[in-house]
Amino acid sequence: MQWPTHGSNPQYLYESFNMSLPKKYIDFSVNTNPFGPPKIIGERWHEWIDAINDYPDPKTISLKQKLANKDGVAEESILVGNGGAELITLIARMLQEKRVLIVQPAFSEYEAACRASRCHIFYHLLQEGDWELDVDVLLSKLAHVDAIFLCTPNNPTGVTYSKAALLKLLQLCNEKNVHVIVDEAFYDFYAEYSSLVTYITKFPNLIIIRSLTKMYAIAGIRLGYVISQPKTIQKLAAFQPHWSVNALALKIGEVSIEQSAYVKKTQNYIMNERERIFRTLKELQFIVSTSKVNFYLMKDPHTHDQLPLFRFLLKKGIIPRHTANFPGIEGRWLRLAVKQAEDHNQLAEALTEWRKQS
Ligand SMILES: Cc1ncc(COP(=O)(O)O)c(C=O)c1O
Repeated sequence: MQWPTHGSNPQYLYESFNMSLPKKYIDFSVNTNPFGPPKIIGERWHEWIDAINDYPDPKTISLKQKLANKDGVAEESILVGNGGAELITLIARMLQEKRVLIVQPAFSEYEAACRASRCHIFYHLLQEGDWELDVDVLLSKLAHVDAIFLCTPNNPTGVTYSKAALLKLLQLCNEKNVHVIVDEAFYDFYAEYSSLVTYITKFPNLIIIRSLTKMYAIAGIRLGYVISQPKTIQKLAAFQPHWSVNALALKIGEVSIEQSAYVKKTQNYIMNERERIFRTLKELQFIVSTSKVNFYLMKDPHTHDQLPLFRFLLKKGIIPRHTANFPGIEGRWLRLAVKQAEDHNQLAEALTEWRKQS
């Protein structure tokens, strides 16, 4: 069977199972904000229509200034892109034919983009179950690589890594001229997350990826940015197509990043609702990863093969993210997004039925 490479677009998943997409479904494979985009985007939409008449600002100056201000970095340290996905591709192009170590399981685009740039790929596999980063083991692999990709909070586990471990990694990698690419696409779902952004000036090897499509639920608009030292930013910008970020995305981005009350509300909601559904899942004897964000891994420990459970949920119109293409997981878990409370009630109902019949 040909698994879709990502979550979302559920019609492709149902097609690969030879099933038709039910009229009503809940897509737990999409890990964007369950509240949808901030209301203000809908309210101001009509004002922005004029912007589509002209080419967008290729330097993205206005948004860049606001991001720089928000993150406390220089404007020259930021490159805005057409979603985090484009920025991953630009980083991979910069690393063309280099040796790249990916801390796995992680977002599949690191590997796909690096392969397209003819990089030599190596894995550092996290321990299944706790998914913590053993930095000393990782450090022992440094001699053979030019760059390391890691994601924190990590997609698909939702686990965050200790700052001390990451700083140790950064320090040693800096001494050995190894780039460290840290994907913080989900950092703003966790109120207590401590970003590495303040270390940008200290570590020239550090490249941070951010996405605006997750928190602000604008995946269809595409918007993300990279933070690094200006020299690296210039190298990445040289690979970027002109006008890559469209005018609507720029307008939406500027307004979105000012929505701090919406971010706070989301963080609180995610924390409480995740813990609520975790209690139910644990009562039903499912195992979950120690996620700090808006998605998590889950499995039924009573069965080795999670595929029957996956099919069962699809039949009920409950769509998990398969994990078949995550090295180190290979389908042994399902990834679920934290959604609205009523969606979780339906999930709990379906899983209760599964537990009764299994
Ligand atoms: C960890 C991670 N990084 C980056 C991205 C890319 O995000 P986008 O291109 O939507 O900004 C994703 C999307 O799922 C992701 O999961």
